Formats: sequence, C-alpha cells, structure tokens
Amino acid sequence: ALPKWVIARAARAGDLHARLVVASRTSSDVPLDLFEQIRVAGPLHRSTYSFVTASHPTVREVLANPDMRAGVDFGSASGPLGRLGRWSAATAPIGPLTPPSLLVTEPPDHTRMRKLVTRVFTVKAVQGLRERTEQIADELLDSLAARARADGSSTDPVDLVPAYCALLPVTVIAEILGVPEVDRDKVLEFGSGAAPSLDLGLSWPEFRSVEDALSRFEGWLTAHLELKRRVPGDDLLSKLVAARDDDGVALTDSELRATAGLVLAAGFETTVNLLSNGIALLHDNPDQLALLRREPGRWPAAVEEVLRLDPPVLLTGRTAVRDTEVSGVRVPRGGVVTALLAGANRDPDVFADPGTFDVSRSNANEHLSFSGGRHFCLGAALARMEGEVGLRRLFDRYPDLRLQPGARRRDTRILRGFETLPATLS
Ligand code: HEM
Repeated sequence: ALPKWVIARAARAGDLHARLVVASRTSSDVPLDLFEQIRVAGPLHRSTYSFVTASHPTVREVLANPDMRAGVDFGSASGPLGRLGRWSAATAPIGPLTPPSLLVTEPPDHTRMRKLVTRVFTVKAVQGLRERTEQIADELLDSLAARARADGSSTDPVDLVPAYCALLPVTVIAEILGVPEVDRDKVLEFGSGAAPSLDLGLSWPEFRSVEDALSRFEGWLTAHLELKRRVPGDDLLSKLVAARDDDGVALTDSELRATAGLVLAAGFETTVNLLSNGIALLHDNPDQLALLRREPGRWPAAVEEVLRLDPPVLLTGRTAVRDTEVSGVRVPRGGVVTALLAGANRDPDVFADPGTFDVSRSNANEHLSFSGGRHFCLGAALARMEGEVGLRRLFDRYPDLRLQPGARRRDTRILRGFETLPATLS
C-alpha cells in the first residue's frame, strides 16, 4: 500500500481515488457518493497514481483483460512509485496475497493449479456438503436458543455474528479441510489471526500479529498435510493431496499449503459477511422477507441480491503487465487499476433503481461480487449454498427475529460485513 501522506496529499488535491481510500479509512460506510462521482467521471478514471472504475462493463473488461495480472503491484512502475512497490512486495507476509496463492498467481502456474483445484471443488462436491451444512446450521440455531435461555430470558439479545454467521462457514471449511475435532479451535484461531491479511491498510502491530498467525498456521498445516498423505480421509483436502493433472503431476507442498490457507481465509472471512449483510438487509426489508416466506423458491435469487447490494468484497486490484487499453483509455505497463466491484453492482445502466433491495430483480446475478475472468471465485457455489442455507434456516426458525441497537460494521477496507449484530429471537 502507498504511504498515508501520499494518499492524503492527492485527496486534498481532489483526486477521486485518493478520496475514496481516505473515506474508507475513516468511515465504515461505503462511500457511495464517490462511486457515483467516479462513474460519472468516465468508464476508467485516471487518478494521480492509478486508475479506478465503478462502471459495470469496464470492471468486467478489466477482470477479463489478459494483460492485467491480479493484485496491486506498483513494483513494475518506474520512479519512486516502483521503488515503493518493490519494497512493499518484499516485506509482505507470506499468505493469501502472496504467491503461490491462486489469488495472485498467473498463467501458466495459475492455469495448472486452478485446473487441479477445480477437479476437487466440483458442483457435485458442493451439493454433497449441503445436507451437512443444514445440519450444522440447525445445531447452531439450537445453541442460539439455549444461549438465549441461559442468559435468563429469550428476549435477551444474542450476537448473531460470532454465534452464527462466523461459526457456520468455519465449521463447513473445517469439514472440507478434514480438520479433526480436537484441532478445530486451533484452526479457528489461526484463521481469525491471519484473516486480516485479506484487507488493506494494516498497522505495524496488526501486520506482525498476522505474520505470527500465518506462520503458526503454516506449521500446523505442514503436519496436517503429512497426515492426509499417510491416512487420507473423505475430505476435499485429502482429494486435493491425491489429485494429479493429465501429466500425472500433483500440486507441490507449498501450493497445497497456499491453497488450503486461501480456502480457510477466503472461505470464512467472506461468507461470514454474506450472512451478516443478508440478515441486516432481510430484517430491514420485511416485505421482501414476507415474499420469500410465501415463495421460498426465490431464496437463491435473494442471495444474489444480497451479494449485489452489499458485497462482502468491495473491490479488487489489477496491474498491467504490458501497455494495454481499457475502455479506450491507455494503461501503461505497471499501471494499477482498482476495480470497484460494489460500484459495478450499482451501475444504473445495468441495474434499474440500483439502491433498492429487490429479491425479484431478474438480473441480480449479473453482480461482480465474485470477481470475473480467470480469478473468478472458486468458492462461489459453496458460498451461494451456505448463504441460502444459513439465511433461510435462520429466518424459518426465528420468524420473529428482531435486530437490536448496537449493530456495528467491521473496521475493514476491502471486506465489508458486521462485527456485531445483536438480535432477539422471539
Ligand atoms: C477468489 C469473493 C467465498 C475461495 C475470490 C475473488 C473474490 C471472491 C472477489 C477474486 C478476487 C480477485 O479477482 O482479485 C468471495 C465472496 C465469497 C467467497 C464474496 C462469499 C460470499 C469463498 C469460499 C471459498 C473461496 C467459500 C472457498 C472455499 C476462493 C479462491 C479464490 C477466490 C480459492 C481464488 C481464485 C483464483 O484466483 O483463481 N473470491 N469469495 N471463496 N475465492 Fe472467493
């Protein structure tokens, strides 16, 4: 990331992208007015040190552009910006945003790795997890009721984020990774310690604690993978360890560790937000919830509409590996483009009345919340299934659920969700 003073100076000079970065640091609300201004300024807006887009077709074009590689890397730019980029790449902690994580790996390695992971992460495998996810959701909902009773009265608020939104995806991921029951708390601790690495703008102490969690996770994972190799289980990680491509080649140890780490972090740092954002939207739009009660076949569409209107990942970045063009604008080699996924999702040229939560919207699934191009989210089918099961089970079980004062957004910049969501169940 660029130093704060560089961004602050550009923001004061009126630079829209810098103003966006400053706004996301100082407020937990999405700066929708800035998205709008950026879109109005043109399909691809050139700011002082990078490019930014909130236009749906341009975001799609950037994500599909073969001359753009994933991630923000000023390292190939010339001058002081390039030096700064090379320094920040060299000091980044090994984790979901460093190679060989799929998120920032490019062809040919990306093609080879992704093909292998996709062979294991099939639609059928996700369908196979549905029943188990329903069971996990029901168990968690049982314990919510028990917790409310233990607190003295079923009208005492329960915080839905830790007790439900976070536990559901974590438990599913633990099943996928074949984590034994005794290690679950440990993995949860590594995951929540390492997860902030998916966000931007960490302070130095945060950075150090992320590094520490990542290295402890790495140590645990090395032993866990060894076990899966010797005694394969029924889980997807065992299948990934055994997977071979057409030439009989498997993922290397570091690729396996990076993939398992990414699945852990990407899986529960994002799905928790889908669930909390969905609860808030459905609660605040009782007419839409009533429609879902009458016509439950609309639940998958409702999940798409939650993903569109309040996406768990607000933006992503790309860097030009050679001179290229985006929507008629020249982007030089080393040029960085910020693609505002949340901005594209509110492009009025694609979504009529974009600020309205409407589960009957026919094209909600054109949102770009799972990104696009070759880095399109590998967990999208799983996230959609968990979103549907998690939200539907909760509102079916507690039709009188009421959110209470005290809801707070998470202090994140790229990710967006709730830190706490107090609710009474009846
Ligand atoms: C990539 C969003 C859930 C695994 C991505 C990207 C986005 C995203 C935006 C691409 C970033 C970019 O283009 O730079 C989400 C959202 C989720 C979710 C919004 C939940 C609502 C999951 C789950 C898993 C997962 C449950 C795994 C089990 C991955 C992986 C990649 C990825 C492995 C990298 C794919 C690649 O680079 O080829 N996700 N994700 N995600 N996601 Fe997800």
